[in-house]
Amino acid sequence: MKNAHELIEKNVGLLTVLILIAISFGAMVQITPLMFQQQVMEPVTGLRPYTALELEGRDIYIREGCVGCHSQMIRPFRAETERYGHYSVAGESVWEHPFLWGSKRTGPDLARVGGRYSDEWHRVHLLNPRNVVPESNMPGFPWLAENTLNGELTAEKMEVFRGFGVPYTDEDIAGAKAAVQGKTEMQALIAYLQSLGTHLK
Ligand code: HEC
Repeated sequence: MKNAHELIEKNVGLLTVLILIAISFGAMVQITPLMFQQQVMEPVTGLRPYTALELEGRDIYIREGCVGCHSQMIRPFRAETERYGHYSVAGESVWEHPFLWGSKRTGPDLARVGGRYSDEWHRVHLLNPRNVVPESNMPGFPWLAENTLNGELTAEKMEVFRGFGVPYTDEDIAGAKAAVQGKTEMQALIAYLQSLGTHLK
């Protein structure tokens, strides 16, 4: 009994089995309760799925790596809520696939940036951030104003999201291509930014 510790440490097989048991138990304790908590699975009242244009904007946000400098997760601390607004709640993210919470804040959190600035401000800022914030070290994204969307894949993307449980209607999907076709990537990205965090009342 005195040497039980030594016995485990010197026996790789036994050590592996015991480690697996310890990890499984830890995971069970953390994950299982979440599966039964309505609060983390139910959409907040007022939540609506992204429109076709916003959804395309979200893909551009992912493609351009915005998530590498911007989080979308307001933590429940005074310093954050005073600056960004109400802390993020799980019910706002139930239709996010994948989550864009991020973990790096070179720039400010964007979870509630929707409505904070005008579309025109965003356009000028995205072309060259120093146009509006002289000390900014955010890169410009001028090509977004030139690239246009053809909408070929938009409906298919919405179908996939519907498979994940996002409540897109047949009309949403049927109208997807027409809703984005000919719009610039800039318009799509701005539509997405303007929708962020505006659902929680
Ligand atoms: C290299 C890091 C970096 C990248 C990449 C980046 N940003 Fe920024 N962003 C910043 C910094 C720093 C600021 C603060 C200064 C400013 O407003 O320009 C900022 C500010 C912003 C703001 C204003 C937020 C506020 O509350 O004032 C928005 C909106 C924004 N970024 C959107 C984007 C989008 C969209 C992308 C991707 C297309 C992006 N950023 C990519 C660093 C970055």
